[in-house]
Amino acid sequence: MSHLEDLERRAELGGGADRLKKQHDAGKLTARERIDLLFDPGSFFEVDKLVTHRCLDFGMGDQIVPGDGVVAGQGRVEGRPVYAFAQDFTVFGGSLSETNAAKIVKIMDLAVKMGAPVVGLNDSGGARIQEGVMSLAGYADIFLRNTLASGVIPQISAVMGPCAGGAVYSPAITDFNIMVEGTSYMFVTGPDVIRTVTHEEVTKEELGGARTHNEISGVAHFAVADDRACLRLIRELLGYLPGNNVDDPPRRETSDPIDREDGALDALVPESPNQPYDMHDLVHMIADDGAFLEVHRHYAKNILVGFARLGGRTAGIVANQPAHLAGTLDIDASVKGARFVRFCDAFNIPLVTFEDVPGFLPGTRQEYGGIIRHGAKLLFAYAEATVPKVTVITRKAYGGAYCVMSSKHLRTDVNFAWPTAEIAVMGPEGAVNILYKREIDAAPDKDAARARRVDEFKEKFANPYVAASRGFIDEVIRPRQTRAKLIAALSNLETKRDKNPPKKHGNIPL
Ligand code: HXC
Repeated sequence: MSHLEDLERRAELGGGADRLKKQHDAGKLTARERIDLLFDPGSFFEVDKLVTHRCLDFGMGDQIVPGDGVVAGQGRVEGRPVYAFAQDFTVFGGSLSETNAAKIVKIMDLAVKMGAPVVGLNDSGGARIQEGVMSLAGYADIFLRNTLASGVIPQISAVMGPCAGGAVYSPAITDFNIMVEGTSYMFVTGPDVIRTVTHEEVTKEELGGARTHNEISGVAHFAVADDRACLRLIRELLGYLPGNNVDDPPRRETSDPIDREDGALDALVPESPNQPYDMHDLVHMIADDGAFLEVHRHYAKNILVGFARLGGRTAGIVANQPAHLAGTLDIDASVKGARFVRFCDAFNIPLVTFEDVPGFLPGTRQEYGGIIRHGAKLLFAYAEATVPKVTVITRKAYGGAYCVMSSKHLRTDVNFAWPTAEIAVMGPEGAVNILYKREIDAAPDKDAARARRVDEFKEKFANPYVAASRGFIDEVIRPRQTRAKLIAALSNLETKRDKNPPKKHGNIPL
């Protein structure tokens, strides 16, 4: 065996047969298996396979593994270039050394230079303890790249094993964070430190497992059953995204007719204004082939965000969800929506908003938690977005939430309403109780007096026609026409050019 063959064999063996078996026994694939599944077959070009660490202290001198615990390079996903690195847990626990950080940095710099997305497959015990500040410096070098690349190229992280301490901040900065159920966890301080400091007992899974970060913290955007599902999802997600902030998203031809009408949409909104319906049904009915890649599915379910295609073009969908908390906007929904809107705006992805919102969620928890500041994020994100914006009001558009949800006043290009739309400062009951309190209190039959005023209010305000008469709604459309109308609008908006005043950056209320 030549010297080169020996080095390559050692690089491919990673931490050795025993550790590879341990990795498989834990239900995880190895770094190389993950890379193989991520990329189109035979397309991966690996860099720095023979890089080794420089730490000769603490018994490390006789432990040299070519590649040093990370597999990095460039490949193709559906023929399009993508850069990636995969931490190899079998080599020093995938820990980050000076040299393996340099490999990751090299890949990130190349991705930015070439205008291609970067994918990080994380499976690591964190900073390589033996290397001290050199490994910490490596993390900071990566965080800086994550920050500078933000809004320039899409960045996707998958957490496929441990991700602890400061290491969590790289996935946190990236655009999408996918966690594998059962084998991944993320936390800043682990259960042992928590026990010592706050005397709380919590397991790793409870503290930072996929479920926790998908449902409670919102740190993760997707939860997947295993490594294979994770890599399939990354490929699917990349299929909706452009390579960078000056390219357009890829188009995918579809056999789904652009003028397809779905009669079921005409019956989607229930007779009673307080009865919920599932906004997923609407999105599936209008999207090409019914496909919707939902982002943050388990978090803040009162708003839906995700990607669909309309006539072959990627669209970022934002929709209130009347089936959860009546579709009200709360802190989590506002933050979730704002981040998604900003992603789409950065990457030339048109925004399609479906609106059915009775207002912001009332209560001391929301007010003390800063709903004013957080709700403003969504407003800010929509207002600054210069990509094509189209809104469809299906039912309620009440109060401040009317303004926030991509209203005409925030530079939305095309605003549609269904005939069932109710656009008002507040719901009829609330309005009547304020406007006619004295009259109702004095009436012999209070309920009848209230009902009469409610009917009158609905007649006057709870419809789309006042807004349409002002031009705040461009067109009142039949629900079954929604797909065709959206596709036509997006096609007309393809040449849109809009920009914000020159500035270093805005000051979104963080
Ligand atoms: C060097 C490490 C390592 C590390 C693990 N290993 N973490 N080597 N530096 N940080 C090595 C182990 O010695 C072991 O080597 C192999 O990787 C596998 O680790 P195990 O402990 O056997 O695996 P497991 O039981 O699955 O436990 C995984 C683990 C645990 C929970 C991640 O290894 C662990 O707690 N590691 C330390 C985590 C940590 O505190 N890291 C620093 C966080 S602070 P052998 O030879 O036995 O196979 C940080 C700062 C970042 O990262 C700063 C950014 C600002």
